[in-house]
Amino acid sequence: MKSIVIQQPGKLVIEQRALPVPAAGEVRVRVSYAGICGSDVHIYHGHNPFAKYPRVIGHEFFGHIDSVGEGVEASRIGERVVVDPVVSCGHCYPCSIGRPNVCTELQVIGVHRDGGFSDYACVPAVNAYVVPPTISDELASMVEPFTIAANITAFLKPQPQDTALIYGAGPMGLTVIQVLKGVYGVQKVIVADRIDERLAMAKQSGADWTINNQHQSVADILAVDDIRPTIVVDAACHPAILQEAILLASPAARIGMMGFSGEASSVTQQSITSKEISLFSSRLNSHRFPQVIEWMKQGKIAPEKLATHWMPATEVEAAMHLFEKDPRACCKVLLKFPL
Ligand code: NAI
Ligand code: MN
Ligand code: ZN
Repeated sequence: MKSIVIQQPGKLVIEQRALPVPAAGEVRVRVSYAGICGSDVHIYHGHNPFAKYPRVIGHEFFGHIDSVGEGVEASRIGERVVVDPVVSCGHCYPCSIGRPNVCTELQVIGVHRDGGFSDYACVPAVNAYVVPPTISDELASMVEPFTIAANITAFLKPQPQDTALIYGAGPMGLTVIQVLKGVYGVQKVIVADRIDERLAMAKQSGADWTINNQHQSVADILAVDDIRPTIVVDAACHPAILQEAILLASPAARIGMMGFSGEASSVTQQSITSKEISLFSSRLNSHRFPQVIEWMKQGKIAPEKLATHWMPATEVEAAMHLFEKDPRACCKVLLKFPL
């Protein structure tokens, strides 16, 4: 088989590898589609602190089970599956309270262990979720990015009467917008980005109002109509956004963060406590695959609105370049396997 391997930062090769044999408790997936994520590009460039090299990247993938390891029902062969990249120990404190995504021994497929940009990938059988026929092969790998939105919104507990403000209309912001509108029925969703094309995508995904904050601050624009968001999600993840979000949030607002910057954000206790603001962070997902598959099946979320490009996996370098350099034309890029 062939695999896309980052041998060391900056060096991507398509490597011939032996067909892997599933270990006990694992299934082997014959990959047919995989989505490119910002973190794949970061591992390529050496900007992901968790990655070890060489690494087969890719954590958003779909395919068919073609072999099972010891202890896994042979009847699973043939299943159409998407793979939850979160591999956890099952017995540490976070695992014991249903939060395997922050397991003390967390292994993310495609980051800490080899991933799905490969003709075949072996994964724990419990991580492979069956996809119903109503979800197409071409879009099934989009389940994973929506699980990130499912996870953060579960903390925020949105209500229809909320006014939500989302920073960033990349894949993460767009999935959050769709979940707020399509699942929770939030009446007013406001989205800020610096790129008009991204704001147009936000509108397509259900945003009620968009703000280009390239030349004007969101705070100034909201002040005109005295709008106080009751939910803020930072899906742009610049360290300066937290301070602004706290400043313009309503009393009793909830703020969701998903960034990994190592730079400090400047916030005061007073600005948070005086309004009794709740701050939530969210990483990957905790068992959200079944929920997202159900939402997709019911048409509550629309992955096709994010997927802009499908390319052969052999063109992975061009695909990653496009994904990284052309946010105006490009949102989600999906690779078609085999290599
Ligand atoms: P992206 O780069 O495609 O999208 C970010 C968007 O934010 C862009 O459209 C950009 O124009 C916009 N933006 C940048 N600065 C802004 C500002 N100051 N105000 C308003 N908009 C601004 O990235 P993607 O894939 O949507 O991911 C977003 C962030 O989420 C990344 O930082 C990524 O590391 C993080 N992330 C976190 C996860 C988690 O589980 N916590 C999972 C996946 C991504
Ligand atoms: Mn991803
Ligand atoms: Zn654990």
